[in-house]
Amino acid sequence: MIPVYKSKGLKPSALDMAGDPLNFVVEQSEKLGNFFRIPFYGIKQIFVTTNVDVIRHVMQSNQKNYRKSSAYKQLKLALGNGLVTSEGAFWRRQRRMAQPAFYKTQLEELYKKMVGVAENFCEDLQRRTDNETINISQEMMAITADIVLKTLFSTEKENGNDKVDMSESMKFSQEYIMNRARRPYMIPLSYINGKKKKFDKRMAEFDEEMFAIINERRALKDKPIDLLSMLLQATDSESGDGMTNRQLRDELVTIHAAGHETSSNALSWTLYLLAKNPDVLTKLRAEVQAILGEQTHPSFADLRKMPYTKQVIEEGMRLYPPAYAVGRENIEKDEILGQQIPKSSIFVLSIYALHRDPTYYPNPEKFDPDRFAPEQLKQRPSLAYMPFGAGPRMCIGNHFAMMEMQLILAMMVKQFEFELLDDKRVNAQPLVTLSPKGGIKMRLKRFKKEIN
Ligand code: HEM
Repeated sequence: MIPVYKSKGLKPSALDMAGDPLNFVVEQSEKLGNFFRIPFYGIKQIFVTTNVDVIRHVMQSNQKNYRKSSAYKQLKLALGNGLVTSEGAFWRRQRRMAQPAFYKTQLEELYKKMVGVAENFCEDLQRRTDNETINISQEMMAITADIVLKTLFSTEKENGNDKVDMSESMKFSQEYIMNRARRPYMIPLSYINGKKKKFDKRMAEFDEEMFAIINERRALKDKPIDLLSMLLQATDSESGDGMTNRQLRDELVTIHAAGHETSSNALSWTLYLLAKNPDVLTKLRAEVQAILGEQTHPSFADLRKMPYTKQVIEEGMRLYPPAYAVGRENIEKDEILGQQIPKSSIFVLSIYALHRDPTYYPNPEKFDPDRFAPEQLKQRPSLAYMPFGAGPRMCIGNHFAMMEMQLILAMMVKQFEFELLDDKRVNAQPLVTLSPKGGIKMRLKRFKKEIN
């Protein structure tokens, strides 16, 4: 029998998880085991798991019977039918068409754009060292937003492009959507108090801007190399058709949303962990200095020569996975580990709790990038680590994100020392992605290499 979680008193049990989705699963997995059930208002079952066999079943071997859970429906209001929110044959076609934009040769082109943004960013930071208090999470958000704009549209700063104010519109829509997801009982009120109308108007204006950009690019003879051009040129191998303006709009907005807050939070947490673990920072810096020498940034080829830099990021995302959980719903009834699963049950796969499971990660709170050294990797099932998800719906931007994070981290540790201004532990806040509550305040100093 799958153990059942019941809250104390009359409170619906599901609310306990909603109130603290990170620690709730860590604690209950210790008490009840790594596959337990929560009755959901007597109408549905929620299955919560960090069991790799269950994860394999849901995400890989029987993934056809699983769709994204209803939480993703709210996202559709802003993202439309892009890769994150679409399903079935439509998703498969879109994924087939978008995939080549993330092949190695294309990533190398996009990397050149990232380097330009990162160089400007570090020069600006250099001017602000020593005295200024830096909120590192704000800075990481700014650089990853610039990178996503540059790689999508070849424009950098929002105000450098008078056509689209993407980050602002996305922020606006994210707030609206999170409110709906958290307090669904308030949705009817939004039709009365004008909030839904305001949202629809803002989205309609935003879409107009996006369509104008797409049409302009369609008409352009010499197209710049960026994700928009790559997606415009993509055709479906089966039908030969390209994407409509609506499909393009949805994929562009999806990539913008999926692709910068995630990397930004992963980088912020990693820098925070490095500031708290000077030994790791020293080892990382030694690798970076050995590869970079006098260069200010690693070349695309250098990235493969910096395994420890990659391990540091991997360990950062183990402790603070930006996508801290994924949700699924089974279409038909199912059987898992000999247990009957009723149709339309909800599955919560807690990546945060999985990454803290002491079976796979002894002393789980310790920041130890050696856990990702090849010999240690071999000792764990591959699904014990899934910051980018798993199976066919795995993140399309994983290599994009890894190269972006390696680039920024290498440049930052080569140039700066990091001093945390507050000794207190920064708490993780499970918003759309896992954010540092209140930001991470640091003072940066120019790093001066010691000469022996
Ligand atoms: C550290 C950075 C990132 C993390 C942790 C991350 C994590 C994830 C996860 C966990 C999923 C799967 C969600 C699910 O199965 O429900 C996903 C999907 C996706 N991600 Fe990422 N992501 C990152 C960066 C990016 C970047 C840079 C891009 C684009 C440039 C991107 C684009 C997407 C897209 C389009 C999907 C949907 C894929 C599909 O279903 O076909 N992500 N991401």
